[in-house]
Amino acid sequence: MAAPIAVAIDAPEIETAARWASAVAPHVSTVKVGLELYLRYGPEVITTVRGANKVDVFLDLKLHDIPATVGGAARNMARFKPSILTVHAAGGRDMVKAAVEAAPQTQIAAVTVLTSLDEKALDEIGLRGPASEAARRLAVLAVESGARALVCSPWEVASLRAEVGPDITLITPGVRPSGAERGDQARVATPEEAIEAGADLLVIGRPITRAADPGAAAASIAAALRRAQSTPSA
Ligand code: C5P
Repeated sequence: MAAPIAVAIDAPEIETAARWASAVAPHVSTVKVGLELYLRYGPEVITTVRGANKVDVFLDLKLHDIPATVGGAARNMARFKPSILTVHAAGGRDMVKAAVEAAPQTQIAAVTVLTSLDEKALDEIGLRGPASEAARRLAVLAVESGARALVCSPWEVASLRAEVGPDITLITPGVRPSGAERGDQARVATPEEAIEAGADLLVIGRPITRAADPGAAAASIAAALRRAQSTPSA
């Protein structure tokens, strides 16, 4: 079975994106397309990374607008059958609900608090902190509005799992195999730690896509996860 990994295909060009997607697709469940690629190429990039690969497409557009606009956008995106589409929980209950209703075959994943925002930045935009409490509030709001998935830091997985129960898909970026470069990610966990904490899908980008052999890097992380899952923890 493909590993529960969404490879962040953050390539500047569609040709590179297609190459990375084909290389990792045999090993992982999902590939993730973000704003950088989508705004340049539009829906073509979805069909391109999917290609002939049996892989789910996670569309990370982080929609945030009035409910009617987000509903319309989600309806448009639903035609391309992404398995996951992100929206900002901060858009409010009606906005999350509009996305959920507009794309019934797609899992709407709510982003709680961007991990790039520290306490000072949260204060400046008027979001009552601490960040973990803001994330908890927004997670509850999103789930009450029909979202079946949340995006959160690996450090918040255990507490959010306790808050929202077993049926909500928890998706975590900020995952780094031990020894890998952190890049600009501050609060990181290894793939095994994130799964152990209760994550369902790990977003991993540069440790795979910037490796000399992205297919081999994906296969190696997938194998490490399989080993961890077959060794019950004490
Ligand atoms: O290369 P790396 O593994 O850091 O890629 C992580 C991916 O997850 C990027 O596409 C980034 O935009 C996304 N992401 C993140 N932190 C969040 C939400 C999304 O790193 N809080």
